[in-house]
Amino acid sequence: TRVAILISGRGSNMASLIAAAVEPEFPAEIVLVASNRPEAGGLATAAAAGIPTLALDHKTYPSRAAFDEALHAELVAADIDLVCLAGFMRIFSAGFVEAWAGRMINIHPSLLPLFKGVHTHEQALAAGVRLHGCTVHYVVPELDAGPIVAQAAVPVLPGDDADALAARILVQEHRLYPAALALIASGRARLNGDRVVFGNDVS
Ligand code: GRF
Repeated sequence: TRVAILISGRGSNMASLIAAAVEPEFPAEIVLVASNRPEAGGLATAAAAGIPTLALDHKTYPSRAAFDEALHAELVAADIDLVCLAGFMRIFSAGFVEAWAGRMINIHPSLLPLFKGVHTHEQALAAGVRLHGCTVHYVVPELDAGPIVAQAAVPVLPGDDADALAARILVQEHRLYPAALALIASGRARLNGDRVVFGNDVS
């Protein structure tokens, strides 16, 4: 499975995927890291790991569709099988999502379907939940919806602020995303309609 990772920032989840994929038995290879922000710190991290990188500055494209078409062309040219969004902070046009339907996953820092969008840790604190976490899911046109591949939960502890919660969850993100990618790339998890099924499950 040839994987492209799309980032917009520091790329710590990207780094966890790259580190996992270095292992010979890992069922996917990271062949491209692309960012819509040329200044994304993750680009240097990827380059240092020997991964080809691409900066497509969305501000230089006349429209969302034009940016998405350019990105799509690059992914096709690199013969990408699966796209992993890792802190990619840009919404796609419906056409792009359709083109990669069933072949694009994302990590989101909440236990979906709770707390979609941004500021998820503030949302969790405001709601008073005692468990919070992260989710790897397939990407569908609706933001932070889509079939769930894997989740990890952490406790919300007395005195937590958004930063403390984010740090506790990030540790789990770095474990969860490579595990979810391995499940998909090895065929142990697969899409069946609007659900993810595992192993021999045909439900
Ligand atoms: C992560 O918390 C991810 O879940 C969210 O944005 C953050 C990206 O962090 N979508 P990094 O760039 O992977 O370090």
